[in-house]
Amino acid sequence: MGTVMSESAVGKLSSALSRVNWDFPGSTTLSDSIHLLHKFPGNFIPEIPSYLVQLLTKAGDIVFDPFCGSGTTGVEAVALGRRAWQCDANRVSALVAEAKLLAVTRPPVVDHLARLAERVAARGLFSNVVDPTQQMERSREKDSELRSWFHPETLAGLSRVWDEIGNMTNDDARTVALAVFSDTLFACASPGSRHTRTGLRRRHHWGWIADNVKPRQLKIHDAGEFLAARLEYVRGVIGGRQRDRHSEWRVWQGDARAIDLPDESVDAVITSPPYLGMIDYALANRLTYLWCGWSLADDRQREIGSRARRGRRDAKETYLAAMQGVIGEIARVLRNDGYCAVVLGCSRKYPGVAAEVLGEFGRSLRPVWGPVLRLPSRRRVSERAGRQSEEFVCVYRKRDESLCDA
Ligand SMILES: C[S@@+](CC[C@H](N)C(=O)[O-])C[C@H]1O[C@@H](n2cnc3c(N)ncnc32)[C@H](O)[C@@H]1O
Repeated sequence: MGTVMSESAVGKLSSALSRVNWDFPGSTTLSDSIHLLHKFPGNFIPEIPSYLVQLLTKAGDIVFDPFCGSGTTGVEAVALGRRAWQCDANRVSALVAEAKLLAVTRPPVVDHLARLAERVAARGLFSNVVDPTQQMERSREKDSELRSWFHPETLAGLSRVWDEIGNMTNDDARTVALAVFSDTLFACASPGSRHTRTGLRRRHHWGWIADNVKPRQLKIHDAGEFLAARLEYVRGVIGGRQRDRHSEWRVWQGDARAIDLPDESVDAVITSPPYLGMIDYALANRLTYLWCGWSLADDRQREIGSRARRGRRDAKETYLAAMQGVIGEIARVLRNDGYCAVVLGCSRKYPGVAAEVLGEFGRSLRPVWGPVLRLPSRRRVSERAGRQSEEFVCVYRKRDESLCDA
């Protein structure tokens, strides 16, 4: 009986999933959403986790994303009244994902960010208002490296802003401000020239930071002005939005191959694993690691499928072995009957590897729907003009066969 009922429920679910146009043509990340808090390569468009959360879970369920990146799944889950558990191997990802959830669930953050914006705007007062005992640790010995990314004036402005953030008394607001600061570092490292040597328009890109391509000309940027504008945007997005304040959520830095959760503890997994050889998540955030003195090497070492290692002879085998470990962990922490949705892309260098990973999911969990090919309506990863990126959406379910009727 149990099997028959759940099979009909799965049939309805499949129909509902099939009615969604997963390309989401015309989708943009809304400028009034918290998703723009920090630039992040390879993030979800929010519609994807939002639809999956609505179709696969109910209010109060725990939605887990073991590759949370910038935390899109968590924000959408919490907005829909679910609980959000999220982890990522990358320390900056964990910071950004936590900052977004703090911003939308802790109303007092708004006032603290307003005060920070006022202090940042009141230039010249910096040296008087900073309490040196409260200053956050910063990797001073890396200063010479920072000087090759930032003009001395930009660097001085960044240092003043940093000290202001260190002076904040509210931990939640300071975390949000730190994430905004991390994005400010990226913006302030943009090169001075507007065109490349071949005449193309120069676009500031994570790939340059990842590849350690330092600006030829150091441009003066006003870090205070950029940060204040970003704080204004965050306040605008969260001001008056108190809907999600009772939500439960957790974000931690952790390896998806060794998930720090008990067996059968989450109701659903909604995730997009790293594609093989496409993006360097830790390296793309090298400026934040550098500034904060965090270990880039440790996070790089944990990163699955990184672009920097795409040329290694064993890149594919290493990736598949890592993903096998992840899949085992997902199957372990997912409750019986819980759904797992995966969005995974094809790598041009390794065509077919996404299908292999999805097949691997299907060996540990029961395929319910998909894989369905989706053609992103906007660039999800760095793609040169004329090349369309492709990715698959697939849903699985954990079934303990011993509990099913024949
Ligand atoms: C495709 S991105 C996820 C993007 C996310 N869905 C979003 O909307 O921002 C893949 C993420 O996997 C993370 N990652 C790579 N190796 C990992 C590992 N061993 N454990 C946990 N996370 C890892 C990367 O740091 C990256 O943030």
